[in-house]
Amino acid sequence: MTSLAGTNENDDMLTQPASKYRAFPPVQLPDRQWPNRVLTAPPAWCSVDLRDGNQALAVPMNVSQKLEMFDALVRCGFKEIEVGFPAASNTEFAFIRRLIEDGRIPGDVAIQVLVQAREDLIERTFEALQGAPRAIVHLYNSTSPAQRRIVFGLGKPEILRIATRGTQWVKDRLPRLAGADVRFEYSPESFSATEVEYALEVCEAVSEVWGPTRERPIIFNLPDTVEVAMPNVYADQIEWFIRHLKRRETAIISLHTHNDRGTGVAATELGLLAGADRVEGTLFGNGERTGNLDVVTVAMNLYMNGVHPGLDFSAMNSLRDVYERCTGMIVPPRQPYSGELVFTAFSGSHQDAIRKGLRAWEVSGGESKGAIWDIPYLTIDPSDIGREYREVIRVNSQSGKGGVAYLLESEFGIELPKDLQREFGPIANDEVDRLGREVRATELKAMFWREYVERTAPWRLTSFRTENQDGAVKCRAQLTRDGRPVEAEGQGNGPIAAFVNALSTGGARRFEVISYSEHSLSSGEGASAIAYIQARFADGSTRWGCGVDTNIELASIKAVLSALNRA
Ligand code: KIV
Ligand code: ZN
Repeated sequence: MTSLAGTNENDDMLTQPASKYRAFPPVQLPDRQWPNRVLTAPPAWCSVDLRDGNQALAVPMNVSQKLEMFDALVRCGFKEIEVGFPAASNTEFAFIRRLIEDGRIPGDVAIQVLVQAREDLIERTFEALQGAPRAIVHLYNSTSPAQRRIVFGLGKPEILRIATRGTQWVKDRLPRLAGADVRFEYSPESFSATEVEYALEVCEAVSEVWGPTRERPIIFNLPDTVEVAMPNVYADQIEWFIRHLKRRETAIISLHTHNDRGTGVAATELGLLAGADRVEGTLFGNGERTGNLDVVTVAMNLYMNGVHPGLDFSAMNSLRDVYERCTGMIVPPRQPYSGELVFTAFSGSHQDAIRKGLRAWEVSGGESKGAIWDIPYLTIDPSDIGREYREVIRVNSQSGKGGVAYLLESEFGIELPKDLQREFGPIANDEVDRLGREVRATELKAMFWREYVERTAPWRLTSFRTENQDGAVKCRAQLTRDGRPVEAEGQGNGPIAAFVNALSTGGARRFEVISYSEHSLSSGEGASAIAYIQARFADGSTRWGCGVDTNIELASIKAVLSALNRA
């Protein structure tokens, strides 16, 4: 048993939870249709960030935060925005007046206001709406058995009467908003925990009072106020309701799910399959307890299936900033689509697959050639929502050579040869492991520079000159070895071969160059070249070396010394 202080008498999970908890009974709908359907069009969206989201905040938004949030929701493309519960708080009343009086509501946006079925509250709500060009009055009362019995102590007829009486009070006041486009929404709160037959009976009675038409439909919002069952049960409830509703064509069926069992998004998606037309939710799932459904996720899930959601999340990062600033909430790093880490791969094998996928996408011509996105581990192209490829691959101790190479290339244009990637990968990995944290691209470059480019001991180049003689290249190099000057001359079929020859005459360990490549690092005046050399020594061991210089010949000579110094 749990006391009011919230403690379980034995502080243990029950061995027989059925002695305390019961499964929600399924709906009898053997010929359910929703499992066979697919979503091919978006629903109408209504943001409830400024009401359901706001009322769940420890510190509710002030007027200026609400204004900022309202503008952000408009930019996302919401055409219906629940702006508050004006009869419940002066801040909400003031905010709504401010929106209307300052003319901040775009012509194609309707503001929605929530109110309980009490005449004084409905009266105040209509005061708040004076002058609004388009509004939705949202009336609700709770209908579930637990609410009827425990909270209201009323039977079904009395609860139904609360709904119809409230509807009549709203209808009576419509002339007060003459000239405005006013619609009506009714929510049987706790719908998903209510007997479907009774929820329908209440809604039919409300409809009878309101008198909706095909042209001016009523909105029936069927909330999953508290998730009590799996999302398929909610979908059955929605399909059952729609199939039994008289004059279906005069109603818009709206979903409003919460996330108590962690399936708010799934419940909404299955509810849409079941035939609903409209979805209420919040950005990033803010809301009471575990939150409302995250509209961003549902919208982007449609998008990733090729259906435009009718909402625009192109500026996801700045939307997240506005949200965090206004609500004081944090978007979890793994929140679908919007979380900081959702397009990031730390794992080496994931990085490798993503790199190959991105390359294949480029080769296929990408977006400009209408190629279909099919990149392992990336459900959508992050750049579609203003996120950057640079976020995609990040390096920590779980990462492999692929991620290291990708970062060096994408950030600095350093195109490591495959075999060099294999050599440097574990070196970088050991260093990252030692640091015990994620490393930035600049740190990786510094590691690479330390390991290869800055290896100037024991051998260091002072000067290098070549001349062509009888088809061969002769070179003269001045070097230091452990600080002592060494002069060396050599010849070969090119400057590198001549230098390798000079080194052996100068007393260096014998080796041959088995691979070589180079590329420029940047364009413009201070253009630098980078050269990569792989040396094989007499004992069969190999080492890579790397040199950077504005002169490509000198870059390759430095690369030779780097390989020698690393041996
Ligand atoms: O979750 C809920 O039931 C609500 C209603 C007021 C619609 O927020
Ligand atoms: Zn809610």
